[in-house]
Amino acid sequence: MRILIIGGGGREHSIGWKLKQSKKVKKIYFSPGNGGTSLIGKNIQIDNSNHQKVGSWAKKNKINLVVIGPDQYLAEGLADSLQKKNIKVFGPTKIASEIEWSKSFAKQFMIEEGIPTAKFAIFNNFEKANSYIKKQKFPLVIKADGLASGKGVVIAKSFLEAESALKEMMKKKIYGNAGSRVVIEEYLTGKEISIHAFSDGKTTKLFPSSQDHKRIFDSDSGPNTGGMGTISPLPWVTKKLMLEIHKKIVKPTIKGLEKRNRKFVGVLYPGIMVTKQGPKVIEFNARFGDPETQVYMRLLENDLLDILFSCIEGRLSKTKIKWKKESASCVVLASGGYPGKYKNGLSIKWISDIKGTSVFVFHAGTKKVKNKFVTNGGRVINVTSTGRTLKNSLNKTYKAVNTIDFKGMQFRKDIGVKSL
Ligand SMILES: Nc1ncnc2c1ncn2[C@@H]1O[C@H](COP(=O)(O)OP(=O)(O)O)[C@@H](O)[C@H]1O
Ligand SMILES: [Mg+2]
Repeated sequence: MRILIIGGGGREHSIGWKLKQSKKVKKIYFSPGNGGTSLIGKNIQIDNSNHQKVGSWAKKNKINLVVIGPDQYLAEGLADSLQKKNIKVFGPTKIASEIEWSKSFAKQFMIEEGIPTAKFAIFNNFEKANSYIKKQKFPLVIKADGLASGKGVVIAKSFLEAESALKEMMKKKIYGNAGSRVVIEEYLTGKEISIHAFSDGKTTKLFPSSQDHKRIFDSDSGPNTGGMGTISPLPWVTKKLMLEIHKKIVKPTIKGLEKRNRKFVGVLYPGIMVTKQGPKVIEFNARFGDPETQVYMRLLENDLLDILFSCIEGRLSKTKIKWKKESASCVVLASGGYPGKYKNGLSIKWISDIKGTSVFVFHAGTKKVKNKFVTNGGRVINVTSTGRTLKNSLNKTYKAVNTIDFKGMQFRKDIGVKSL
């Protein structure tokens, strides 16, 4: 089979790496891919927002399956456009993925379906939102309704902070239309985890639990990023908790979407706060997480292609999914200055060859220039490993991290530490 993977991050490299292990996969294309994906497939340059171009390229190149990584393209309806051309796609339609691209839609949906989430109010009008926050307790969470590249959420510690967030989103429109509407919600305390589930529209199967590390600096300080590292599974997340999340959150979500003619085929990824009152949804994502996927691909035992097709063809209930009984970790190496401004084109030094161990390096913002790799993005490299225990895996990952260097490289030194 011939596969096209849309996206160019560590997530897409790891999905491609896993698909490449399938006997049925002949060739993988990435649009646009990165330095690492060029080693396992072919990078192509098409504007992924131009559905006509993506579709005709896929037809011409006899693509059997398109896997969509980033949220943006799902929100733009790329899955719908490709399906209309009879091209098989892994990833939900535009209206199914609204659960991610509109936080107000997701919130109203959760209320209607009785899915546990933080208390909230929705506003389209700055004056009304502003008078509402005068009566609230702090911290208070202010969220732009639409996609804002992971930057549209402000945890306001005071009225003034909340007011300034509202002004930026609703008046200055720093996120464009994404901030014309806001969700204001209660601040939840607890432990945050990432849950992923394969869905064929009816049946759902959970991945092991995982945890991202959103902030740039150690001890969860500094600004939010796309994610600086992951571990899976979390030693403290019990089978009972996973069953509860499946029953109270994942199943009713898929059922509720089906009821609304928004059948969800793909990966449902709710961000969850485990509170004293039980698990509550922070948000829904309609795709694989990044960097969660980089550890999941290390733990998955099955042929990924079989699972993707069983979702598309509605036979997930008959597919057994097996995960290694090991721990995995991922540490992201980022450019100096990220998540703010950073330089591209810096050469990456690989001090030793880490092949032949259970370490694997997925590329994100890298580019191959004359057989050498240079930096080409905020998050540059994902170092992953598997081990018998979490401690074991973290040791291996960090040992490998120390063999890689580029000017200004920054990474968190405390990935997974809270779970040890
Ligand atoms: N109600 C809440 N209470 C506490 N923290 C929250 C709440 N909502 C969001 N957060 C924090 O803000 C982060 C980003 O919010 P999220 O809704 O996931 O938006 P996005 O991923 O689209 O930026 C979360 O990962 C979480 O750490
Ligand atoms: Mg999030």
